Amino acid sequence: MSPFHLTRTLPEDATGAALRADVLNGLTRTPKTLPPKWFYDALGSALFDRITELPEYYPTRAEREILLGRAAEIAAASGARTLVELGSGSSDKTRHLLDAMPGLHAYVPVDVSESALRQAGEALVAERPGLEVHALIADFTAGIRLPETPGPRLVAFLGGTIGNLVPEERAAFLTSVRALLAPGDALLLGTDLVKDEGVLVAAYDDAAGVTAAFNKNVLSVMNRELGADFDPGAFDHVAVWDAEREWIEMRLRSRTAQTVKVPALDLAVDFAAGEELRTEVSAKFRREGVKAELATAGLNLTHWWTDAEGRFALSLSVAG
Ligand code: SAH
Ligand code: AVI
Repeated sequence: MSPFHLTRTLPEDATGAALRADVLNGLTRTPKTLPPKWFYDALGSALFDRITELPEYYPTRAEREILLGRAAEIAAASGARTLVELGSGSSDKTRHLLDAMPGLHAYVPVDVSESALRQAGEALVAERPGLEVHALIADFTAGIRLPETPGPRLVAFLGGTIGNLVPEERAAFLTSVRALLAPGDALLLGTDLVKDEGVLVAAYDDAAGVTAAFNKNVLSVMNRELGADFDPGAFDHVAVWDAEREWIEMRLRSRTAQTVKVPALDLAVDFAAGEELRTEVSAKFRREGVKAELATAGLNLTHWWTDAEGRFALSLSVAG
């Protein structure tokens, strides 16, 4: 069995410091917001995996359909010896790419969720003798340093997670990805596409309430890590489509007027009845927009594939 390397790129307390900074900044502004990366403790990662199996949540199935049909083409176009995956989670769909890349030397999953990286990495080295797995616990928006592994590299960013960044964050992120690419390297990007509002809202407000539990999990993360006293039952899960900005917003709406204490920040946060805390945006894209955002970051779109129903796209781009 090849070794499984797990590297924490930041000191353990840096995560705590980043959470404190984000909560202080996000809960003392109007409207209140939190960055979505704090959903993904061990429970949040497991809840996301359940979301991917919900009948309403089509993106995972649509992207898997494209990967199954196009993995050989992607492998041939990239000629990659190292596959880097940002926000890799369970690395489940990635297996279709790995199957099409028998000559691959190294897989580098990058995620903030240590539990997801451990589970996926340990399973992959057992399943695929000869494949080196170098997992990085890192924030992909904070600039990452990749391990020394053979090129060319294919950097994959799947699932539509780029849509969880707001436009300014996306521009900075794509510029940082461009800086990782040497000549011959490529970016494989998954983007969910604009579609009927009813389909979109149902995907983020499922009948079984799994997305509601995922959304409220961020309150439990703040309770555990910062000693806060959020009552998840005192908030409602809300998913709305913003037609102008073409993104879904997930929010937590306070059922009553209440004050929440956050002892680690020496902070008391007032919520008015009905006040909403934005916990995530999930932007939906069109081909021209993706092409333009890539171009602004110095990346040239070379391939664009969609599922048969045109719900989701995978694109390949190279440094221009
Ligand atoms: N790529 C997988 C998982 C998507 S869920 C799929 O397509 O199904 C989003 C993943 O990105 C989670 O595993 C989460 O922990 C990770 N993530 C979210 N924000 C992150 C950040 N800023 N830096 C690193 N990982 C992040
Ligand atoms: C990870 N990301 C692409 C998911 C999405 O669809 O925006 C996160 C998610 N939020 C609610 N459901 C799923």
